[in-house]
Amino acid sequence: MDRFKVVGGARLSGTVKVSGAKNSALKLMAAALLAPGKSKITNLPAIADVGYMAELLTRLGCKVEIDDKAGEVTIEVPEELGHRADYDLVRKLRASINVLGPLITRAGKAEVALPGGDAIGSRGLDFHINSLADMGAEIKLEHGFIVASTKQRLRSALISLEFPSVGATENIMTAATLAQGVTTIENAAREPDVVDLGEFLISMGAKISGLGSHTIKIEGVSKLNPATHATLPDRIVTGTWAFAAAMTKGDITIENGRVDHLEIPLDKLVEAGAVITTTENGFRVKMDKRPIAVDVATLPYPGFPTDLQSMIITLNSIADGTSIVTENVFEGRFMFVNELMRLGAKIQVDGHHAAITGIEQLSAAPVVATDIRAGASLVLAALVSEGVTLIEDSFHIDRGYPDFPAQLQSLGADVTRV
Ligand code: UD1
Repeated sequence: MDRFKVVGGARLSGTVKVSGAKNSALKLMAAALLAPGKSKITNLPAIADVGYMAELLTRLGCKVEIDDKAGEVTIEVPEELGHRADYDLVRKLRASINVLGPLITRAGKAEVALPGGDAIGSRGLDFHINSLADMGAEIKLEHGFIVASTKQRLRSALISLEFPSVGATENIMTAATLAQGVTTIENAAREPDVVDLGEFLISMGAKISGLGSHTIKIEGVSKLNPATHATLPDRIVTGTWAFAAAMTKGDITIENGRVDHLEIPLDKLVEAGAVITTTENGFRVKMDKRPIAVDVATLPYPGFPTDLQSMIITLNSIADGTSIVTENVFEGRFMFVNELMRLGAKIQVDGHHAAITGIEQLSAAPVVATDIRAGASLVLAALVSEGVTLIEDSFHIDRGYPDFPAQLQSLGADVTRV
C-alpha cells in the first residue's frame, strides 16, 4: 500500500501546470457512447480513473485507446452497444453512473450497478431515476442494479430538480439529446463540468441552450456524430494549488488556472491575506503572512465548492482567529476532520458546521486519507506541520492529482512516495 511521506516546513514556490478536469474527462468519455464512430477526448489527466472508464466502455463494446503521452483517448463506439455496468467498476468510479443517460437513450436499455455508500456521505440517485422515468423509461432497482429500459425513443419532459445536482443534470442532458421533443431542466447545475459536457454534445450535433444557467433546454435530434473535444482545466486541482500557496506562505503560478471558475474561493483567499494576480495563461497566488481565518459555506457552483471544503478547513486550522465552515452539499463530508485533529487542529463539528480555532503550528502524526480531497488537504496540512507526516491510503490522492509528490517537489517541498 502506497504512503506519502511529507516533511513539514516548506514554502512552495514556482510554476505548476494544471491538466484536464477529472470530473469532466470521465463524463466526456461516457458521452462518447451517444454516437457510433470514433470520438476523441484530449487534455486528459493522467489518473487511474481514466483507465477504469476506458475498461467500462470496453465492456460496453467500444474499442478504447489511451495515449498517455499525448493525454488523449480515442473511443470507437459500435452501432450495437452493450448495456451493463458492473459493480466492480461502478464502486471504483462513481462517474460510471454517467453511462446511464447515454445507454438508455441510444440502446433503449441500461443496467448500472448502484454505487453504494461513499466516504463523503450518502449520495442519492433519485433525481436521475425519477427524471428518466418522466422521459418514458421504465426503471426498477433489482439485485443492486438500476435496470432501465424503453421500447420507444425517450420523450421530452419538463424536469425541475429539487437540488441542482451535477450528476443528475448530466444524465438528463445526455438522455435528452436523442429524445423526442424539447426537454427543459429547471434548477440545473451550473458547474463548468456541465458546460464542458454540453459543449461536447453540441459539437456532436446536439441542440442545447442555456448551459451555465439555471435552465437548460435540449431539443432532441435523431442522431449524433462522433467529435473531438479538449477537457477543460481542473478547477479543483487549480484551487488546491492556490490553497497550497496561501497555506505555506508561498508563491505559486498556476498555468491553465481559470480565475473565472474559482471566483468565490479566490475571494476567500484574498480575504485571508493572499495576493492574487492574473498571468498570461493562468494566475499567481502569493502569501507572505499567517492567513486570517475566514467563514465559508459550501454551495453549488458558483458558490464555494464542496470539493475545496477540506482545504479551507485546513487553512483555517493554522489561521489567525476562529471561523465557521458550513457544508451544504454533502452530509458526512467532515470525516477527515478527525485526521486533521491528529495533527493538532482545534475543530468542533456540530451537524453540518465546523468551528475552527486557528493555532500557530500543526504537528506531524500518522494520518489516513479518506477521500481524494481530504487526502490532498492532509498533504497541505503536513507541509505546515512540524516534523514528518506519513499519509496512509495515498491512492485516494492519486485518483485526483496526477503525480502530486513530483509536482510538490518541483515547488520545493519534500514529499515522497514510500
Ligand atoms: C459531483 C462530483 C463531486 C462534486 C459534486 C458537487 C463527480 C463524479 N463527482 O458529484 O466531486 O463534489 O458533483 O459539485 O462528478 N442528490 C440527491 N439525489 C440525486 C442526486 C444528488 O439527493 O439523485 C444530492 C446528493 O446526495 C448531494 C447533492 O444532491 O447531497 C449534490 O450531489 P451531486 O451534485 O449530484 O453530486 P455528484 O454528481 O454525485
